[in-house]
Amino acid sequence: MCGIVGYIGKKDCTEVLLGGLEKLKYRGYDSAGIAVVNNKEIKTVKSMGKLENLVELVGQRNDLESHCGIGHTRWATHGEPSDVNSHPHGNARITIVHNGIIENYQKIKKFLEKKGYVFESQTDTETVAKLLDYYYNGDPTETIRKVISKIEGSYALGIIFKDFPDTIYAVRKDSPMVVGVGKQELFIASDIPAFLEHTKNYYLVEEDELVVLKDGKAEFYDPYGFAIEKQLHTADFDINVAEKGGYEHFMLKEIHEQPKAINDTIGSLINDGLPDLSESGLTKEKLGNYNNIFVVACGTAMHAGLVGKYLIEKLARVSVTVDVASEFKYRDPIIGENDLVILVSQSGETADTKAAMHLAKEKGADTLAIVNVVGSSIAREADMVIYTRAGLEISVASTKAYTVQLAVFYILTFELALVKNKITENQCREYIHKLQQVPDIIKEMLETKDKCQFVASTLQNCTDLLYIGRGLDYALSMEGSLKLKEISYIHSESYAAGELKHGTISLVTEEMPVIAVATQKDLFAKTISNVVEVKSRGAKVILITNEDAVVSPNVADYIIYVKGESDLFKPILTAIPLQLIAYYTSVIRGNDVDTPRNLAKSVTVE
Ligand code: AGP
Repeated sequence: MCGIVGYIGKKDCTEVLLGGLEKLKYRGYDSAGIAVVNNKEIKTVKSMGKLENLVELVGQRNDLESHCGIGHTRWATHGEPSDVNSHPHGNARITIVHNGIIENYQKIKKFLEKKGYVFESQTDTETVAKLLDYYYNGDPTETIRKVISKIEGSYALGIIFKDFPDTIYAVRKDSPMVVGVGKQELFIASDIPAFLEHTKNYYLVEEDELVVLKDGKAEFYDPYGFAIEKQLHTADFDINVAEKGGYEHFMLKEIHEQPKAINDTIGSLINDGLPDLSESGLTKEKLGNYNNIFVVACGTAMHAGLVGKYLIEKLARVSVTVDVASEFKYRDPIIGENDLVILVSQSGETADTKAAMHLAKEKGADTLAIVNVVGSSIAREADMVIYTRAGLEISVASTKAYTVQLAVFYILTFELALVKNKITENQCREYIHKLQQVPDIIKEMLETKDKCQFVASTLQNCTDLLYIGRGLDYALSMEGSLKLKEISYIHSESYAAGELKHGTISLVTEEMPVIAVATQKDLFAKTISNVVEVKSRGAKVILITNEDAVVSPNVADYIIYVKGESDLFKPILTAIPLQLIAYYTSVIRGNDVDTPRNLAKSVTVE
């Protein structure tokens, strides 16, 4: 969602801010803006639409030379995307950028209107800017503290004051922020890529901390005003991670990075051929004693949880409940002290997943986070953490983060099955061995790309599509369907193949292609019967099945074969053609693959 960047140092601030905003685009945005201190005055430029619009406006100005400023990419929540609703907000004296939602902004707005303030925008952020102005007493930190005692909701704020032209102030609650530390230069940002080309060193800003950047130094204060010592971290990804590396899109690059991402992830969770989750704090003893296991997540991460459910139930014979995080909280779930709630999240900042975690903790359950971004809120707040090691994922459509989440669920399943005596140590070693072969088989699956491109060309003009499958194939096809719709804008649904005949099959005509996933031998015949049902109603069928499957002629219009011997690992391998079909369909339709309309990479509002 919204992205914040701020810079103070010797370089051309405007250039650094625009460069940082470029790197934040992947979070999703609909407008952008910057405010810099020039000749002791705050100059603001902002524009709706693509960052290029802002760059053009900046190019027309000759009063933006500066060494201190803040920038923002906005993903509209309160008020439509427009120039006036874009950030920064404020006046010639105090200007801010904001990520998050101020829940009591209406109340504050009424209060300020009575004091004579006139509002230009429909945003919640403008109320914070004006409240800062109202309380300003010449002391920025005191003023900021006063304001944050009045606002409710989530915020990461970057603030500049005309009277303090060489200082940036920042504060956060429930919205991410990091401080980059270079040589005689400092940054604030929503995430590290915004300043990665300048420095890899950074501080994590914790909840309710106030940050003051000046004279090349970053100072941190707790809510009582006491200075805090912080640990400096070094980002372990290299500068090129935020570049496309010769690929046309980040999504395609990330699809190709999956063998490495899975290797890195499972490598950190295996010791001597067996699962080793000790780093996470999840001991065998704990794992064996939970009454119930819940998996709670959103979107793709939730789909990974669904595959996890099938795996755990199949091998470890422990029942697992999977919940969409935004529903979990409101269904008053029956959870308690002896339960495990697994939160899955690439970003570790998803507001719904965070809220679910807070509820689980309140109810006394143990929380285990499966998270990709090191030091993210969910990773920090959960009782236990297993990190996936996909590296930075830029494309809004999640690919490598999904398959590494699956890899973690495999390891978790093997560990649990071992603990519950459902498999022997030797069997477990055998499973782990097979999992270790998956990255190489993925490399072979990547060679299906020409076929996937062809399939995409046949789908490009359709308006609706069905994905069907049974068991693990059904769980996986949900992700295939989401991938397609989020980037191609073609409506699609995923259905349990056997459920079609209970209503949905009435939609099937020659206008409705069906992608059928049938990789599980024990369910193959049943799924094929459902394929025949849709085929005989005119649907064009794309079948994704095993290399050794015997498929009668005319059952499918097109077949993509999945490599590998064991059915258990098919979801992680079949994900590849599903991702590629979605990718190429989006490319052929001329869409913005990496930043699809209306979407944000990290959804930090509920
Ligand atoms: C994935 O392609 C989506 N863009 C989206 O569903 C995403 O998986 C979801 O918002 C959860 O994000 P998280 O993993 O960062 O929590």
